[in-house]
Amino acid sequence: KLIPTILCGGAGSRLWPVSREMHPKPFIRLADGQSLLQKAFIRGAVLPQAEEVLTVTNRELFFKTKDEYREVNQAGLKTSYILEPFGRNTAAAIAAAAMHVSATHGEDAMLLVLAADHLISDQQAFADAVAKAMALAQQGKLVTFGIQPNAPETGYGYIEAEGNEVRRFVEKPSQEIAVEYVASGRFLWNSGMFLFQAGAMLKAMEQHCPDILSATRSCLDASRKSEGKDMIELELDATCFAQVPDNSIDYAVMEQSKEVAVVPCSIGWSDIGSWSALGDLVAPDAQGNRIEGEALLHDVSNCYIQSSQRMIGAVGVDNLIIVDTPDALLIADKSRSQEVKHLYKQLQAQG
Ligand code: GDD
Ligand code: MG
Repeated sequence: KLIPTILCGGAGSRLWPVSREMHPKPFIRLADGQSLLQKAFIRGAVLPQAEEVLTVTNRELFFKTKDEYREVNQAGLKTSYILEPFGRNTAAAIAAAAMHVSATHGEDAMLLVLAADHLISDQQAFADAVAKAMALAQQGKLVTFGIQPNAPETGYGYIEAEGNEVRRFVEKPSQEIAVEYVASGRFLWNSGMFLFQAGAMLKAMEQHCPDILSATRSCLDASRKSEGKDMIELELDATCFAQVPDNSIDYAVMEQSKEVAVVPCSIGWSDIGSWSALGDLVAPDAQGNRIEGEALLHDVSNCYIQSSQRMIGAVGVDNLIIVDTPDALLIADKSRSQEVKHLYKQLQAQG
């Protein structure tokens, strides 16, 4: 049994002003009309082994998420939800998911953890990688999916791999170390997707982050539950969930465990983490400009421009990101698109 488990949280602050708390990154629609979240749902739901799709998300996003799924769940696959009052990071979200799957499908049932904000262009290669990962998970492994790195990105986890074996897992190294890893040719990027038996993850958490596991367990036990024929909803209580330590699965488990394995894969993976990554999905014109919406340009090159309602004019500039929305306009140097998150933080600080 395989339960694709979609994690949807995090505000996507590097995609301000389009991504906000109430309109986070997974809901951004791409040119083909589908949102990143819908693509994640389809990615899991079409796998032949998929039994149901479990989603862990914020309770404020519940109805929006259901609407999104309804549009693409033609096969009527069962959908379940674990609803969080606020984000407690991925270790807690995965702990809750693994406990729930273990309770409803047994501890041998497998979870395929998917991020709600990635793109995978080669579904067939992805399905093949999942089949390989299931064989490793069968032996109790916590399986990661390794992507050939093409730049010393510091926002990713790095996996030192030998075949399917993992020598070490290093989450978000410094720039210096990332450069070294990529140059060595021995490291893969962690895609942020994981496949494991529910019981194997619970065992690893028992060993490496028992505090997160036990705090999440009490919350799940005390959660409000509604159940129907094709769905289960569990709503976690805020007072209880506030007690759960905040950590990511990468630091809490993947860096610690000896049971981590990797399936190296070439699946057309991209993490839509920043405007420059999102812009790369749009075909460039002869000057290297990538444009969504309407723009009037004179002597402009290598810019990403997105307008929703108005015409954007630009003269004599290059390597800029310009994103216009009805209530906010972003202008940024393309090479610094990771830093857009600082604007978001400033706004939050202002309340
Ligand atoms: N439900 C829920 N609750 N989901 C969450 C929470 C939370 O508190 N926090 C994050 N998520 C979701 C995000 O929406 C995303 O889909 C996924 O979990 C991963 O979280 P990110 O915050 O995007 O992690 P990251 O990008 O810093 O790092 C991870 O992904 C990289 C690849 O994109 C790590 O796994 C890295 O090792 C990896 O390279
Ligand atoms: Mg991410």
